[in-house]
Amino acid sequence: MKKQGPIGVFDSGYGGLTILKELRQRLPQYDYLYLGDNARAPYGSRSFDVVYEYTKQAVEELFSRGCSLVIVACNTASAKALRTIQQHDLPKWDSEKRVLGVIRPSTEEIGSYSQSGHVGIVATEGTVRSNSYELELAKSFPELIVSQKACPMWVPLIENDVYTSEGAKYFIQRDIQDLLSSDEKIDTILLGCTHYPIIESLIKSAVPSSIRVVSQGPLVAQKLELYLQRHPEMENRCSKGGEVACLTTERASTFDSKAKRFFGEPTKAVQIRL
Ligand code: DGL
Repeated sequence: MKKQGPIGVFDSGYGGLTILKELRQRLPQYDYLYLGDNARAPYGSRSFDVVYEYTKQAVEELFSRGCSLVIVACNTASAKALRTIQQHDLPKWDSEKRVLGVIRPSTEEIGSYSQSGHVGIVATEGTVRSNSYELELAKSFPELIVSQKACPMWVPLIENDVYTSEGAKYFIQRDIQDLLSSDEKIDTILLGCTHYPIIESLIKSAVPSSIRVVSQGPLVAQKLELYLQRHPEMENRCSKGGEVACLTTERASTFDSKAKRFFGEPTKAVQIRL
């Protein structure tokens, strides 16, 4: 039998913990190793090359710590780095390891949530600029009308813990209004950034109740379960102790004090360098 290891989960900061929380809920039997590159977050406005380099370092780190499967739980990194890593780097490192993202699992489902056929995506500047959502949605739902809105203030407000301030509410309402005024038929908004579930209630209070606001976590967890069913060779390489360990590139005590809000469980992080 091949050596077993945890499922790696990576994000620029704390946002990926909203995905990990859903993975734990749906697939509690597996071990998980989370890595937050908190010292270099946010990635949202960084260039393609920088996001690719940082993401590559993080994925290699998780592989070196025994993971065979890594989920890039960051839309910005999924949009800017995933394909290159999958096609260019992975075959050189180890062709039996796998890296999956969060955009495809979301775009395979979100079109079927909309009655009007008009969907809005809120995301970081990097994700919106990459056009990954439009391209992926066109594959699964070619008729869907997609509007995107970059919200560059949201991640810094969340990472810095000031997302309930009046200033934060102003930016959330302003960006949502911009999105909705670009297409009044939008009936579904996808939160295309793993940080945004933290402000889901603020986003919901900024939209009419007829509009559905969708977080990615449950979709990613559902797709991972199906993936592991389809790939028993990978499933056999995932250790099953129900444990979660966390790595951060920032101070561990800072990570632990902030992570609970995103993850809902206490963490005991270890600081590393990438
Ligand atoms: N959670 C990341 C995402 O899903 C945040 C990006 C950032 O670091 O700006 O895009």
